Amino acid sequence: MRYRGICFMSLLGRLCGWTMALANLESKKGLALGGKLDDSDIKLLTSEKSPISWYYNWSPTPSNIVGNSTLFIPLIHSLETLKEENIWSALDGLPSSSEYMLTFNEPDEAEENGGSYISPEDAAKAYIEDIVPHRNSSRGWQISHPVVTGSERGLNWLRDFNESCYDIDPRNGCPADFIAMHWFGDFAGLVSWVGTLRGFYNSTEFQNTSILITEMALPQGSEDDNISMLEQTMSYLDGLDYIAGYAWFGVFRKKNANGWTGDGVSLLENNGDLTGLGEKYLGGTTSDFKTEGDGDSGSYALQVRWSTIVLSLALALGILNM
Ligand SMILES: *[C@@H]1O[C@H](CO)[C@@H](O)[C@H](O)[C@H]1NC(C)=O
Ligand SMILES: *[C@@H]1O[C@H](CO)[C@@H](O)[C@H](O)[C@H]1NC(C)=O
Ligand SMILES: *[C@@H]1O[C@H](CO)[C@@H](O)[C@H](O)[C@H]1NC(C)=O
Ligand SMILES: *[C@@H]1O[C@H](CO)[C@@H](O)[C@H](O)[C@H]1NC(C)=O
Ligand SMILES: *[C@@H]1O[C@H](CO)[C@@H](O)[C@H](O)[C@H]1NC(C)=O
Ligand SMILES: *[C@@H]1O[C@H](CO)[C@@H](O)[C@H](O)[C@H]1NC(C)=O
Repeated sequence: MRYRGICFMSLLGRLCGWTMALANLESKKGLALGGKLDDSDIKLLTSEKSPISWYYNWSPTPSNIVGNSTLFIPLIHSLETLKEENIWSALDGLPSSSEYMLTFNEPDEAEENGGSYISPEDAAKAYIEDIVPHRNSSRGWQISHPVVTGSERGLNWLRDFNESCYDIDPRNGCPADFIAMHWFGDFAGLVSWVGTLRGFYNSTEFQNTSILITEMALPQGSEDDNISMLEQTMSYLDGLDYIAGYAWFGVFRKKNANGWTGDGVSLLENNGDLTGLGEKYLGGTTSDFKTEGDGDSGSYALQVRWSTIVLSLALALGILNM
């Protein structure tokens, strides 16, 4: 929703200036839509009064439930996605508000854990050959670097990726328009990982580039822990001009959560009402967000294998337990 003029269109700051990104946005809040969801859940979360302004679903194809007024950010999940037939004509056919594109989901993570498991060399080659040219198409896609797990291994992957990029194209490397980030853990860890990424992307070409957080949560938190983590996190991220937006991981009903996160991260109760966490995230109560004519129609067609998302959290927990 929340379509507010030109700075909205330049969500990540191209027209409004990098560090002024989202200054005029009503909200940085987004939705990471995956897993089993009822149409009514999606309608609730993106209804007229919801502060949600953007969403993604780990795929290049938008939800047919979310209206065009909520900005869709496609993701090229893996090398396989790039091989899909007519992938670029499909992407170029998206509404013009879809200016931003995410690439390669957790390439440092195994496929069975939700990652795209791509070597830095292969990723650099595909990025330069198949993705970068689309920044310069008439459509002018704004594209993120691959998004790694929030870990030392992820950082090393980015380092190797960058080296490979310059091996292939010594002049340009792998240009990007924004940085994407994942974090599973506590608030202090999130702050630290934001700082690590900012430090890594501190060369002239990337300095002050906006960061879009596309997965974040506190797995296995206590009730107080998860609400206070979310509150601290939102107020911190809302105050940083280089954070373009963020999406909480847990757009599902408690019964559809999984062992890795625990159901404490869920934004929705089993009956479809917002959880306490959901109310904090949306800044309202369920009844404030109900739209007229909500039906309990069939379930939302998955664009990604739920199991891959579920399992991607294994790594996050591994990090937490380290
Ligand atoms: C959303 O945008 C697409 C592509 O521009 C268009 O085909 C579709 O009809 C739009 N949907 C609505 C509900 O306006
Ligand atoms: C982008 O397109 C312009 C005009 O077609 C061309 O001059 C320029 O070299 C292209 N840049 C890249 C990086 O491909
Ligand atoms: C970027 O590098 C400059 C110069 O070395 C340093 O002062 C600054 O703190 C660094 N910024 C980040 C976010 O690490
Ligand atoms: C990427 O590699 C180039 C060439 O080695 C180097 O100059 C640059 O600082 C590196 N960038 C990052 C973000 O590590
Ligand atoms: C990044 O932001 C800092 C602080 O506003 C500014 O001094 C610096 O010139 C910016 N760097 C670039 C490359 O825009
Ligand atoms: C926070 O997490 C705990 C433990 O996972 C859960 O019992 C609780 O319901 C969660 N709080 C909210 C508001 O969802």
